[in-house]
Amino acid sequence: MELIKKSGITRNRRKPHGPAKNISSAIKKNLSPRMLKILRLCGALADQKGLKAYAVGGFARDILLNVSSFDVDIVLERECLVFAKALADKLGGSLVVYKRFGTATVVMDWCPKAKRGPVNRKERFKIDIATARVESYEHPAALPKVVFSSIKQDLHRRDFTINAMAVSLNKGSFGRLIDFFNGQRDLRQKKVRVLHDLSFIEDPTRIFRAVRFEQRYNFKIEPHTEELIKTAVRLDMFGRTQKQRLRNELILILSEPEPVKALTRMHELHELRFIHPRLRLTKGMLRLFGDIGECCRWYESSFLKKRPIDRWLIFFFAMVDGLDLAQVKALCEKFVFTKGDEKRIISCKGKADKVIRALKAKRELAPSRIYRHLEPLAYEVILFILAKAKSERVRMRVSLFLAKYNGVKPSISGKDLKGLGIAPGPRYGKILDRVLYEKLDGRLLNKQDEMRLARQLSGKA
Ligand code: CTP
Repeated sequence: MELIKKSGITRNRRKPHGPAKNISSAIKKNLSPRMLKILRLCGALADQKGLKAYAVGGFARDILLNVSSFDVDIVLERECLVFAKALADKLGGSLVVYKRFGTATVVMDWCPKAKRGPVNRKERFKIDIATARVESYEHPAALPKVVFSSIKQDLHRRDFTINAMAVSLNKGSFGRLIDFFNGQRDLRQKKVRVLHDLSFIEDPTRIFRAVRFEQRYNFKIEPHTEELIKTAVRLDMFGRTQKQRLRNELILILSEPEPVKALTRMHELHELRFIHPRLRLTKGMLRLFGDIGECCRWYESSFLKKRPIDRWLIFFFAMVDGLDLAQVKALCEKFVFTKGDEKRIISCKGKADKVIRALKAKRELAPSRIYRHLEPLAYEVILFILAKAKSERVRMRVSLFLAKYNGVKPSISGKDLKGLGIAPGPRYGKILDRVLYEKLDGRLLNKQDEMRLARQLSGKA
């Protein structure tokens, strides 16, 4: 560990503190009855199999902060896969097993956050299940090697004291809080503190996480932890980290309710240059972030039933707005964005400004023109356009598209065209598009009108 010696950082094992109170009433207060029932079921299943089950990490933290917790991470001291299978069977959820890590996830088909509207696939309720483990790192920033351990060792390998608590789920001790590393004290004092000095060297993604928790809860990264972050940044630890892990952390930061706070802090800690050396947090970008937040709130309150959106992506568009297309493409490649995300990022870069210019035009724009500008774009790109344009005219045109034009379909279909004796082929799409545009512009009032136009277009009139 040459790097660690060079940094002067030492492994600083904190003296563990004894177990403490029972937080079952806080659990009841902060969880929906459905989630509470699931936790009790986990306890009962563990009892049946003679296992000890704990809810760990963010779950305990959020319950103590009186925040509704939607994520559940369960740790057992052994046999997590047997437990996970039994839980998935009982709950009727699907089971995903990660053989390499010896962990599993039970995924349900409902979303604890969405009271109404469609369920975003990524937000489905998930329970992550693992066997307590210690992780050793072959070299700094490597993926860890896993060895099974006790719950205490499992908690000690974690990122921050506030994330290193566990809650017992077994029936006889349901709600008992396990806090060996003073997590409760740091929660009270609003501090983000690592458990040992090598934390950021072993896992540099924790540098982003520290900022995320600090800004989310209005905490403060305590001075020694901040020093360790600065050292890790100086040692270019990000350069040694798998880019997709950094990307995932970036997505989480941009998914926070107020990502601008975290980005400002990342800028202070010189973390942004690891995303792209030309990335600057300008006043214009900060303003754009504010406008995006407003547009998302407007969309979510008016159009929730329409289509779920990836909010983080719109903020990402804003982050890279000052970069050119080639730089954005290189960034997508470096961070290995999924194909779907990459497509939306590149489409935004290539088209947003052109569409803004078209929609800002003072002259009258027919509904079909507005439709043709916006329909090929992802909703995230449309909301970015709305935020960036900052124009009443654009807002009105986008609203009309989202509320009215985008739902319109021709009353006739391919079957009707076949009935007219038109040979199936690419012509069908062209005719149906024309019919749709004319319908949007109010020139076709009923199915007969549409049939008449189809006949004309096909030369069968
Ligand atoms: N963890 C860690 N180091 C990381 C990532 C996670 O030690 N780089 C541990 C922490 O104990 C964390 C837990 O794994 O609490 C679960 O991680 P995750 O689900 O990513 O975070 P949460 O703490 O649940 O935070 P969030 O509320 O953002 O989901």
